Amino acid sequence: MAAKLIDGRTVAKEYKEKLALRAQALVESGVTPHLAVVLVGENPASQVYVRNKENACIKAGIRSTVIRLEESCTQAALEETVEKLNADQSVHGILVQLPLPRHLDEARVLRLIDPDKDVDGFHAMNSGRLMNGQKGFVPCTPLGVMELLRAYDIPVEGRHAVVIGRSNIVGKPQAMLLLHANATVTVCHSRTQNLAEITRQADILVAAVGRAGFVTADMVKPGAAVIDVGINRVDGKIVGDVDFEAVSEVAGYLTPVPGGVGQMTIAMLLANTLDAAERCGR
Ligand code: GUN
Repeated sequence: MAAKLIDGRTVAKEYKEKLALRAQALVESGVTPHLAVVLVGENPASQVYVRNKENACIKAGIRSTVIRLEESCTQAALEETVEKLNADQSVHGILVQLPLPRHLDEARVLRLIDPDKDVDGFHAMNSGRLMNGQKGFVPCTPLGVMELLRAYDIPVEGRHAVVIGRSNIVGKPQAMLLLHANATVTVCHSRTQNLAEITRQADILVAAVGRAGFVTADMVKPGAAVIDVGINRVDGKIVGDVDFEAVSEVAGYLTPVPGGVGQMTIAMLLANTLDAAERCGR
């Protein structure tokens, strides 16, 4: 194996220890940082994600409230829940776990969250702020990727970063963050032609496709930093978007799945919640 493994677990652990100190300072100043998570229905993956977020909050000294709504919950009831959290001065961060059951209008709900409590960074106001280079909440996964690059001193400025995937949650904000860090950025997607030709030019390759083993060794430039954002379940096992074994022989750096980016996502959620609490405590 040629690639150096990027150990998200260790980076996230150290990061969360620093966040716990920030949380403690806030509590001592009279503000208890507080994240409210809204979970609708019984989606098993969502239940696990929400439990992990709850546990991470508790461990960091952040208050966490999970509001569970029935699968059959109406749009009006969900919106009322969000509006109550918007108005609740004790709540600093609001997260509506996605995906929502199909009968609910996700976009409408996300629009309703107070942008200054939108710790997921999914509100159009925050996407706009990110686009314009203004301060705001940035989606946690791309933020976590930037932290991993920083933690491993992987140079970004002037490098060619290729992002595969153009979702609002990962691909697009990832491209913006890399651009703000002065990378030359290419965004590829399902209609991209000659994909491997482009990805082979990447010094930093971010895979956010949602397909197991999508990135193969022939798509990677020797020595590149390959960041695997994928979380796919194959035969009961969690794997990323990158063919780990083969790519580890070519890449310079590689994130494992699990144990890579996923660990950072929650750490960034906690960081965003503390940012929100610190802002309101001022
Ligand atoms: N579902 C899967 N990942 C996420 C996330 O980061 N935020 C929310 N709200 N829902 C998700």
